[in-house]
Amino acid sequence: MKTVSVIGAGTMGAGIAQVFSQIGYHVHLIDYKQENIDRALQKINANLSKLTTKKVYTEEQKEAMLKCIQPSLIYNDLLAKSSLIIECISEDIEKKKKLFKDINSHLSQDVIVATNTSSIPISGLASLLDHPERFIGMHFMNPVPVMKLVEVIRGKDTSEKTIATIVAIVEELNKAAVLVNDSPGFVANRLLFALINEAVYILQEKVASAEDIDRIMKLGMSHPMGPLQLADYIGLDVCLSILEIMYENLHQEKFKPCALLTKLVESGKLGMKNGNGFYQWNGMQIVAANY
Ligand code: CAA
Repeated sequence: MKTVSVIGAGTMGAGIAQVFSQIGYHVHLIDYKQENIDRALQKINANLSKLTTKKVYTEEQKEAMLKCIQPSLIYNDLLAKSSLIIECISEDIEKKKKLFKDINSHLSQDVIVATNTSSIPISGLASLLDHPERFIGMHFMNPVPVMKLVEVIRGKDTSEKTIATIVAIVEELNKAAVLVNDSPGFVANRLLFALINEAVYILQEKVASAEDIDRIMKLGMSHPMGPLQLADYIGLDVCLSILEIMYENLHQEKFKPCALLTKLVESGKLGMKNGNGFYQWNGMQIVAANY
Protein backbone atom coordinates (compact mmCIF):
# COMPACT_ATOMS: atom_id res chain seq x y z
CA MET A 1 0.00 0.00 0.00
CA LYS A 2 1.29 3.47 -0.88
CA THR A 3 1.76 5.81 2.04
CA VAL A 4 1.37 9.56 2.26
CA SER A 5 2.09 11.72 5.31
CA VAL A 6 -0.02 14.84 5.61
CA ILE A 7 1.47 17.32 8.08
CA GLY A 8 -1.10 19.77 9.43
CA ALA A 9 -4.68 18.66 10.11
CA GLY A 10 -6.49 21.92 9.37
CA THR A 11 -9.12 22.33 6.67
CA MET A 12 -6.72 21.58 3.82
CA GLY A 13 -4.91 18.72 5.57
CA ALA A 14 -8.22 17.05 6.42
CA GLY A 15 -9.44 17.33 2.83
CA ILE A 16 -6.16 16.02 1.43
CA ALA A 17 -6.11 13.09 3.88
CA GLN A 18 -9.67 12.24 2.88
CA VAL A 19 -9.08 12.19 -0.88
CA PHE A 20 -5.96 10.01 -0.51
CA SER A 21 -7.88 7.56 1.70
CA GLN A 22 -10.51 7.39 -1.06
CA ILE A 23 -7.94 6.06 -3.54
CA GLY A 24 -6.54 3.47 -1.15
CA TYR A 25 -3.45 5.19 0.25
CA HIS A 26 -2.38 4.64 3.80
CA VAL A 27 -2.43 8.15 5.31
CA HIS A 28 -0.49 9.47 8.28
CA LEU A 29 -2.36 12.56 9.45
CA ILE A 30 0.05 14.47 11.64
CA ASP A 31 -0.58 17.54 13.79
CA TYR A 32 0.89 18.71 17.07
CA LYS A 33 -2.58 19.51 18.45
CA GLN A 34 -4.96 16.67 19.32
CA GLU A 35 -7.97 18.97 18.87
CA ASN A 36 -6.98 19.63 15.23
CA ILE A 37 -6.75 15.91 14.57
CA ASP A 38 -10.10 15.25 16.27
CA ARG A 39 -11.80 17.98 14.23
CA ALA A 40 -10.24 16.69 10.99
CA LEU A 41 -11.32 13.08 11.65
CA GLN A 42 -14.86 14.23 12.46
CA LYS A 43 -15.03 16.19 9.21
CA ILE A 44 -13.67 13.28 7.15
CA ASN A 45 -16.12 10.90 8.84
CA ALA A 46 -19.03 13.25 8.08
CA ASN A 47 -17.98 13.68 4.43
CA LEU A 48 -17.56 9.94 3.87
CA SER A 49 -20.85 9.19 5.65
CA LYS A 50 -22.59 11.61 3.26
CA LEU A 51 -21.06 9.77 0.31
CA THR A 52 -22.21 6.46 1.84
CA THR A 53 -25.76 7.80 2.22
CA LYS A 54 -25.60 8.80 -1.44
CA LYS A 55 -24.50 5.20 -2.19
CA VAL A 56 -21.15 6.29 -3.65
CA TYR A 57 -19.53 3.92 -1.11
CA THR A 58 -20.75 1.02 0.98
CA GLU A 59 -20.49 1.13 4.78
CA GLU A 60 -17.57 -1.36 4.55
CA GLN A 61 -15.71 0.83 2.04
CA LYS A 62 -16.18 3.86 4.29
CA GLU A 63 -14.85 1.97 7.31
CA ALA A 64 -11.85 0.76 5.28
CA MET A 65 -11.06 4.34 4.22
CA LEU A 66 -11.30 5.60 7.79
CA LYS A 67 -9.01 2.79 8.91
CA CYS A 68 -6.44 3.89 6.30
CA ILE A 69 -6.02 7.18 8.15
CA GLN A 70 -3.59 6.92 11.03
CA PRO A 71 -3.55 10.08 13.17
CA SER A 72 -0.38 11.02 15.01
CA LEU A 73 1.00 13.81 17.17
CA ILE A 74 4.60 13.09 16.17
CA TYR A 75 6.16 12.45 12.79
CA ASN A 76 9.69 11.12 13.26
CA ASP A 77 9.22 7.42 12.41
CA LEU A 78 6.25 7.90 10.13
CA LEU A 79 8.01 10.08 7.57
CA ALA A 80 10.59 7.41 6.73
CA LYS A 81 7.73 5.07 5.76
CA SER A 82 6.14 7.56 3.35
CA SER A 83 6.67 7.89 -0.38
CA LEU A 84 5.02 11.32 -0.35
CA ILE A 85 4.86 14.01 2.34
CA ILE A 86 2.47 16.93 1.96
CA GLU A 87 2.98 19.92 4.24
CA CYS A 88 -0.26 21.77 5.05
CA ILE A 89 0.62 23.84 8.12
CA SER A 90 -0.37 27.49 8.46
CA GLU A 91 0.71 30.04 5.86
CA ASP A 92 3.66 31.30 7.87
CA ILE A 93 7.08 31.23 6.23
CA GLU A 94 9.06 30.92 9.49
CA LYS A 95 6.94 27.97 10.69
CA LYS A 96 7.31 26.25 7.33
CA LYS A 97 11.09 26.81 7.29
CA LYS A 98 11.40 25.33 10.78
CA LEU A 99 9.34 22.29 9.81
CA PHE A 100 11.39 21.54 6.68
CA LYS A 101 14.67 21.91 8.59
CA ASP A 102 13.31 19.55 11.27
CA ILE A 103 12.08 16.84 8.91
CA ASN A 104 15.12 16.84 6.62
CA SER A 105 16.94 14.13 8.58
CA HIS A 106 13.84 11.88 8.80
CA LEU A 107 13.22 11.44 5.09
CA SER A 108 13.52 8.19 3.13
CA GLN A 109 15.69 8.00 0.03
CA ASP A 110 13.04 8.40 -2.67
CA VAL A 111 10.44 10.46 -0.88
CA ILE A 112 8.86 13.45 -2.60
CA VAL A 113 8.12 16.41 -0.34
CA ALA A 114 5.28 18.69 -1.40
CA THR A 115 4.06 21.92 0.11
CA ASN A 116 0.44 23.04 -0.09
CA THR A 117 1.49 26.67 0.36
CA SER A 118 -0.84 28.99 -1.47
CA SER A 119 1.50 31.94 -1.84
CA ILE A 120 5.08 31.38 -0.60
CA PRO A 121 7.63 30.86 -3.41
CA ILE A 122 8.69 27.24 -3.06
CA SER A 123 12.33 27.34 -4.24
CA GLY A 124 13.47 28.96 -0.98
CA LEU A 125 11.72 26.24 1.02
CA ALA A 126 13.24 23.53 -1.20
CA SER A 127 16.74 24.80 -0.47
CA LEU A 128 16.30 23.75 3.19
CA LEU A 129 16.23 20.09 2.17
CA ASP A 130 19.12 17.88 1.02
CA HIS A 131 17.17 16.97 -2.12
CA PRO A 132 15.47 20.05 -3.59
CA GLU A 133 14.95 18.10 -6.83
CA ARG A 134 12.33 16.07 -4.98
CA PHE A 135 10.48 19.12 -3.67
CA ILE A 136 7.35 20.47 -5.36
CA GLY A 137 4.23 22.60 -4.78
CA MET A 138 0.82 20.88 -4.68
CA HIS A 139 -1.70 23.66 -4.24
CA PHE A 140 -5.05 22.00 -3.54
CA MET A 141 -8.22 24.12 -3.52
CA ASN A 142 -10.83 24.29 -0.77
CA PRO A 143 -13.02 22.22 -0.39
CA VAL A 144 -10.48 19.60 -1.47
CA PRO A 145 -12.98 16.75 -2.04
CA VAL A 146 -14.97 18.92 -4.46
CA MET A 147 -12.50 21.11 -6.35
CA LYS A 148 -10.92 19.60 -9.45
CA LEU A 149 -7.75 21.68 -9.62
CA VAL A 150 -4.35 21.00 -8.13
CA GLU A 151 -1.95 23.76 -9.11
CA VAL A 152 1.42 22.01 -9.36
CA ILE A 153 4.40 24.30 -8.83
CA ARG A 154 7.77 23.63 -10.36
CA GLY A 155 10.55 25.00 -8.14
CA LYS A 156 13.95 26.09 -9.47
CA ASP A 157 15.41 22.61 -8.79
CA THR A 158 12.34 20.35 -9.11
CA SER A 159 13.21 17.40 -11.37
CA GLU A 160 11.13 16.23 -14.33
CA LYS A 161 10.78 12.85 -12.60
CA THR A 162 9.25 14.50 -9.52
CA ILE A 163 6.83 16.47 -11.70
CA ALA A 164 5.77 13.36 -13.64
CA THR A 165 5.18 11.40 -10.41
CA ILE A 166 3.06 14.16 -8.88
CA VAL A 167 1.02 14.75 -12.04
CA ALA A 168 0.26 10.99 -12.11
CA ILE A 169 -0.82 11.07 -8.44
CA VAL A 170 -3.10 14.05 -9.10
CA GLU A 171 -4.71 12.09 -11.95
CA GLU A 172 -5.11 9.08 -9.63
CA LEU A 173 -7.03 11.45 -7.32
CA ASN A 174 -9.31 12.18 -10.29
CA LYS A 175 -8.19 15.80 -10.25
CA ALA A 176 -6.54 17.99 -12.88
CA ALA A 177 -2.93 19.10 -12.49
CA VAL A 178 -1.96 22.45 -13.97
CA LEU A 179 1.80 22.95 -13.94
CA VAL A 180 3.10 26.47 -13.31
CA ASN A 181 6.45 28.06 -12.52
CA ASP A 182 7.42 29.32 -9.08
CA SER A 183 6.25 32.86 -8.29
CA PRO A 184 4.57 34.45 -5.22
CA GLY A 185 0.89 33.40 -5.24
CA PHE A 186 1.58 31.29 -8.36
CA VAL A 187 -1.37 31.77 -10.76
CA ALA A 188 -4.50 30.87 -8.77
CA ASN A 189 -3.98 33.26 -5.90
CA ARG A 190 -2.39 36.02 -7.95
CA LEU A 191 -5.66 36.24 -9.85
CA LEU A 192 -8.00 35.48 -6.94
CA PHE A 193 -6.45 37.86 -4.42
CA ALA A 194 -6.30 40.79 -6.84
CA LEU A 195 -10.09 40.28 -7.03
CA ILE A 196 -10.72 39.75 -3.31
CA ASN A 197 -8.61 42.75 -2.26
CA GLU A 198 -10.34 44.98 -4.82
CA ALA A 199 -13.76 43.81 -3.57
CA VAL A 200 -12.75 44.85 -0.02
CA TYR A 201 -11.64 48.30 -1.30
CA ILE A 202 -15.00 48.68 -3.08
CA LEU A 203 -16.80 47.84 0.17
CA GLN A 204 -14.55 50.18 2.17
CA GLU A 205 -15.29 53.01 -0.26
CA LYS A 206 -19.03 52.29 0.18
CA VAL A 207 -19.56 51.88 -3.56
CA ALA A 208 -21.86 48.93 -2.81
CA SER A 209 -22.82 46.60 0.03
CA ALA A 210 -21.07 43.24 0.56
CA GLU A 211 -24.16 41.42 -0.67
CA ASP A 212 -24.39 43.53 -3.83
CA ILE A 213 -20.67 43.21 -4.64
CA ASP A 214 -21.08 39.44 -4.37
CA ARG A 215 -24.34 39.40 -6.34
CA ILE A 216 -22.61 41.23 -9.17
CA MET A 217 -19.95 38.54 -9.47
CA LYS A 218 -22.41 35.67 -9.01
CA LEU A 219 -25.07 36.89 -11.42
CA GLY A 220 -22.80 38.76 -13.80
CA MET A 221 -19.78 36.47 -14.03
CA SER A 222 -21.24 33.12 -12.92
CA HIS A 223 -18.93 32.79 -9.94
CA PRO A 224 -20.35 30.22 -7.48
CA MET A 225 -19.58 32.59 -4.58
CA GLY A 226 -18.90 36.32 -4.65
CA PRO A 227 -15.38 37.46 -3.63
CA LEU A 228 -16.39 38.60 -0.12
CA GLN A 229 -18.30 35.42 0.67
CA LEU A 230 -15.33 33.45 -0.67
CA ALA A 231 -12.95 35.48 1.54
CA ASP A 232 -15.09 34.56 4.56
CA TYR A 233 -15.06 30.94 3.39
CA ILE A 234 -11.23 30.88 3.03
CA GLY A 235 -10.77 32.68 6.37
CA LEU A 236 -9.97 36.40 6.65
CA ASP A 237 -6.75 35.71 8.58
CA VAL A 238 -5.62 33.37 5.79
CA CYS A 239 -6.56 35.99 3.17
CA LEU A 240 -4.55 38.62 5.04
CA SER A 241 -1.47 36.35 5.29
CA ILE A 242 -1.64 35.53 1.58
CA LEU A 243 -1.92 39.21 0.61
CA GLU A 244 0.94 40.19 2.94
CA ILE A 245 3.22 37.54 1.42
CA MET A 246 2.28 38.59 -2.11
CA TYR A 247 2.72 42.32 -1.38
CA GLU A 248 6.09 41.69 0.26
CA ASN A 249 7.33 39.57 -2.62
CA LEU A 250 5.74 41.20 -5.68
CA HIS A 251 5.88 44.84 -4.44
CA GLN A 252 2.63 45.63 -6.27
CA GLU A 253 0.16 48.05 -4.67
CA LYS A 254 -2.79 45.93 -5.77
CA PHE A 255 -1.74 43.30 -3.23
CA LYS A 256 -1.37 45.73 -0.31
CA PRO A 257 -4.05 44.40 2.05
CA CYS A 258 -7.02 46.78 2.24
CA ALA A 259 -7.22 48.46 5.68
CA LEU A 260 -10.74 47.10 6.21
CA LEU A 261 -9.47 43.53 5.90
CA THR A 262 -6.71 44.17 8.43
CA LYS A 263 -9.21 45.84 10.78
CA LEU A 264 -11.59 42.88 10.62
CA VAL A 265 -8.84 40.36 11.38
CA GLU A 266 -7.50 42.52 14.24
CA SER A 267 -10.99 42.67 15.73
CA GLY A 268 -11.20 38.87 15.66
CA LYS A 269 -13.53 38.58 12.66
CA LEU A 270 -12.10 35.64 10.78
CA GLY A 271 -14.97 34.71 8.49
CA MET A 272 -17.05 31.55 8.39
CA LYS A 273 -14.88 29.64 10.86
CA ASN A 274 -15.83 31.86 13.80
CA GLY A 275 -19.19 33.05 12.51
CA ASN A 276 -18.20 36.64 11.71
CA GLY A 277 -16.58 38.32 8.74
CA PHE A 278 -18.03 40.28 5.84
CA TYR A 279 -21.10 38.24 6.70
CA GLN A 280 -22.53 36.93 9.93
CA TRP A 281 -22.72 33.19 9.53
CA ASN A 282 -25.48 31.68 11.54
CA GLY A 283 -25.60 27.98 10.72
CA MET A 284 -26.60 27.85 7.07
CA GLN A 285 -27.94 31.40 7.11
CA ILE A 286 -25.54 34.15 6.07
CA VAL A 287 -26.32 37.80 6.61
CA ALA A 288 -24.13 40.62 5.32
CA ALA A 289 -22.61 42.73 8.08
CA ASN A 290 -22.91 46.50 7.72
CA TYR A 291 -19.60 48.23 6.94
N1 CAA B 1 -16.31 18.92 1.79
C1 CAA B 1 -16.84 17.96 0.99
N2 CAA B 1 -17.86 18.18 0.15
C2 CAA B 1 -18.40 19.39 0.13
C3 CAA B 1 -17.94 20.44 0.96
C4 CAA B 1 -16.85 20.15 1.82
N3 CAA B 1 -16.31 21.09 2.62
N4 CAA B 1 -18.67 21.55 0.71
C5 CAA B 1 -19.58 21.21 -0.22
N5 CAA B 1 -19.40 19.92 -0.58
C6 CAA B 1 -20.16 19.17 -1.59
C7 CAA B 1 -21.59 18.96 -1.15
O1 CAA B 1 -21.73 17.76 -0.41
C8 CAA B 1 -22.32 18.88 -2.47
O2 CAA B 1 -22.16 17.57 -3.04
P1 CAA B 1 -23.31 16.96 -4.02
O3 CAA B 1 -23.43 17.91 -5.17
O4 CAA B 1 -22.76 15.63 -4.40
O5 CAA B 1 -24.54 16.91 -3.17
C9 CAA B 1 -21.53 19.83 -3.37
O6 CAA B 1 -20.25 19.97 -2.78
C10 CAA B 1 -22.22 21.17 -3.50
O7 CAA B 1 -22.37 21.70 -2.18
P2 CAA B 1 -23.64 22.53 -1.68
O8 CAA B 1 -24.86 22.09 -2.43
O9 CAA B 1 -23.67 22.52 -0.20
O10 CAA B 1 -23.34 24.05 -2.00
P3 CAA B 1 -22.83 24.72 -3.32
O11 CAA B 1 -23.48 24.15 -4.53
O12 CAA B 1 -22.90 26.17 -3.05
O13 CAA B 1 -21.28 24.31 -3.37
C11 CAA B 1 -19.07 24.98 -2.98
C12 CAA B 1 -20.40 24.63 -2.35
C13 CAA B 1 -18.51 23.76 -3.71
C14 CAA B 1 -18.13 25.38 -1.84
C15 CAA B 1 -19.31 26.15 -4.02
O14 CAA B 1 -19.97 27.19 -3.39
C16 CAA B 1 -18.03 26.66 -4.62
O15 CAA B 1 -17.52 26.10 -5.58
N6 CAA B 1 -17.50 27.76 -4.06
C17 CAA B 1 -16.23 28.34 -4.51
C18 CAA B 1 -15.12 27.51 -3.92
C19 CAA B 1 -13.78 28.05 -4.33
O16 CAA B 1 -13.65 28.99 -5.09
N7 CAA B 1 -12.75 27.45 -3.79
C20 CAA B 1 -11.40 27.93 -3.99
C21 CAA B 1 -11.03 28.69 -2.75
S1 CAA B 1 -9.46 29.43 -2.92
C22 CAA B 1 -8.40 28.23 -2.51
O17 CAA B 1 -8.71 27.17 -2.06
C23 CAA B 1 -6.99 28.59 -2.73
C24 CAA B 1 -6.31 29.25 -1.62
O18 CAA B 1 -5.09 29.05 -1.54
C25 CAA B 1 -6.96 30.17 -0.68
